[in-house]
Amino acid sequence: MSRVVRHQTATLRYARPAPPLWEVRLDLNVAPAAGTYLLADFGGPVREPLYPIEVDDAGFVANVARGHPATQLLPGTSVDVLGPLGRGFRLDTTGYALARLLLIADVGSLPLLRPLYQAAPAVALIVEATTRAQIPSPTQFPASLELTLVTRDGSSGYLGPIEGNGSAPVGIERAGARVRELLLWTERVCFACDPERYPALAALVKEVRLQPQPDFAQAFLRSSMPCGVGVCDVCRVVLPGGEVRVCVDGPVFDLLSFLEL
Ligand code: FES
Repeated sequence: MSRVVRHQTATLRYARPAPPLWEVRLDLNVAPAAGTYLLADFGGPVREPLYPIEVDDAGFVANVARGHPATQLLPGTSVDVLGPLGRGFRLDTTGYALARLLLIADVGSLPLLRPLYQAAPAVALIVEATTRAQIPSPTQFPASLELTLVTRDGSSGYLGPIEGNGSAPVGIERAGARVRELLLWTERVCFACDPERYPALAALVKEVRLQPQPDFAQAFLRSSMPCGVGVCDVCRVVLPGGEVRVCVDGPVFDLLSFLEL
C-alpha cells in the first residue's frame, strides 16, 4: 500500500538549553500532534524523528540532545521535514466528550505528554522519578492538572514503582492504591515510560479495569526511525501479539498489546 507522506519546509525559531536536553522550536504549516512525529533532515546520514512537547497553530517544540546538529542552527534556518507521521495518542471518543484523562510518565519521558496536559476537562498526571531532586517544580505544571508524585526511594510523594505492591516503611505510602484509584477514575490513560515496564503496567491496567476497551490504555514507544514509512525494518519490534513497525503502527500502541500472552 502506498503512503502519502507530507513534505514540508520548517523554519527554526530557536534552539536553547533546557537541561539536561535542549529545546528546538520549528514553525511549519502542519505540526505533529501528541505522540506523532516528523522526520527532519539536519544534514546527517539519516533523518531524525522529532516528537512534539508543545504544539500550537504556528508550529511545535521538540527536545533534542545537547550537541545535536539542530542546536548549532541559527534562527531562521530552513529545515526539510517529512510528516507528521505515525499514530499518536488517540483521545477521540464516539458519542461523548472525553471528560477524564490520566497521564503516567517517568520523569525522562514526561515532556512527551506535555501536549496532553489540557486535553480533557479533568486531567491527572502521575510522575515517577528515582529521587526527589529529579522531580520538576510543581510550578511548571498548569494549575488545572491534578499532580501525583512518585519516587523510587520514597524521598518525595508516594513510594514507587507505580506498578509495585507490598509494604512500605513507616510514614511512607506506596503508590499502588493511588494509581489504582486513578485508573478506576479515568476514561483513558496515556503512558510514556521505559518500555521494559509496559508488560507489568498492562497487567496492572487489566487487573484494575478487568476488560478495558481497545485503546483505553495507550503507551508511547521510542525507536530509531530512518524511513518513517515501514520499508527499512529498523524500527521492527516483536510484541506478544506479533511484529509491529514503530514508525507506522506506532509510536503509540494499545498498552495491552504488551501484555504477556
Ligand atoms: S523506520 Fe523504516 S520501517 Fe520503520
